[in-house]
Amino acid sequence: MALLDIRDLSVRFHTHDAEVHAVNDVSLTVQPGETLGIVGESGSGKSQLAFAVMGLLARNGRAFGSVRLDGQEILNAPPKVINRVRAEKIAMIFQDPMTSLNPYMRVSDQMAEVLVLHKGLSKRAAVAESVRMLDAVRIPDAKGRVRLYPHEFSGGMRQRVMIAMALLCRPKLLIADEPTTALDVTVQAQIMTLLADLQRDLGMAMMLITHDLGVVAGSCSRVAVMYGGRIRELGPVGPVFADPAHPYTQGLLSAIPRIDTDEGELAVIPGQPPDMSRPPQGCAFRPRCAYCRDDCDNRPPLASFAPDRWRACFAPLAELRAGTESRP
Ligand SMILES: Nc1ncnc2c1ncn2[C@@H]1O[C@H](COP(=O)(O)OP(=O)(O)OP(=O)(O)O)[C@@H](O)[C@H]1O
Ligand code: SF4
Ligand SMILES: [Mg+2]
Repeated sequence: MALLDIRDLSVRFHTHDAEVHAVNDVSLTVQPGETLGIVGESGSGKSQLAFAVMGLLARNGRAFGSVRLDGQEILNAPPKVINRVRAEKIAMIFQDPMTSLNPYMRVSDQMAEVLVLHKGLSKRAAVAESVRMLDAVRIPDAKGRVRLYPHEFSGGMRQRVMIAMALLCRPKLLIADEPTTALDVTVQAQIMTLLADLQRDLGMAMMLITHDLGVVAGSCSRVAVMYGGRIRELGPVGPVFADPAHPYTQGLLSAIPRIDTDEGELAVIPGQPPDMSRPPQGCAFRPRCAYCRDDCDNRPPLASFAPDRWRACFAPLAELRAGTESRP
């Protein structure tokens, strides 16, 4: 059984003058212990997908569909259920560690609070366990530094504190939303290595949202490519990168990297992302697609075309492959 089973998940936001279709009919699974990468341009719905799973959507957002964790339905579950699931099975880390750390509390107090509340530990045992976890994320002198406030740590160390906090209850699934984007390249690499080690040691699965295709290649077993709130391609990383089956994936892999960002960042594809408050009838990638045809006035369904590989596109694969091969 899949650890996480998302079926036909959609997220809508109501604003004063529009309905934003942020996530549309997303179905995917995460198997125990695996790392699934989620990539896509800014605004493609990656974070809102994660927030819907975690029950953390903004107030003007609504989620539809089904999200099962270990077979239990958690989408729109009552707060009591979702709080327990968040304490025991699933955790999330963010680009900005201060999203989950309280600036006014010592790290020892905020970490211990979680364990006292959810695991019933005494304060003393909880602080000892917090120190062990800070050790596990390789914070030097964890015992001495557990008494510090979050702002007393450097950026990279603060990221480690957040990871330690997220892993305190030993979740089966960690959702990491751009966990290293704000850090410099060396620290990024250290954090990714750390996450991979922790994942192996704790036997945890990970859903890794990132702009960095290099990170996906290095850390993920499968990848889901999102565009306009929908999955456009889904499959094992090696085959998807070697032989992309969607024009958008092809674009991400072959366009010129932005010069103002680090190498490996998502490349820029000419044209604008779709306006999610006016979702088009047909394929949302059409205005930017070199392969479009009459069929593309309809919405392409996500369909399997080879074992474990899925794509949502009407262009014949042979045409896409010829397009790739003819690139300089
Ligand atoms: N509270 C909200 N009200 C209205 N629209 C929202 C709200 N939150 C997010 N959106 C919209 O939902 C869409 C998807 O946003 P999301 O945050 O998932 O993008 P993303 O893929 O994570 O982008 P990035 O890479 O920049 O983090 C965007 O069009 C965004 O503007
Ligand atoms: S369905 Fe059509 S417009 Fe959409 S990506 Fe495929 S070829 Fe391009
Ligand atoms: Mg995001």
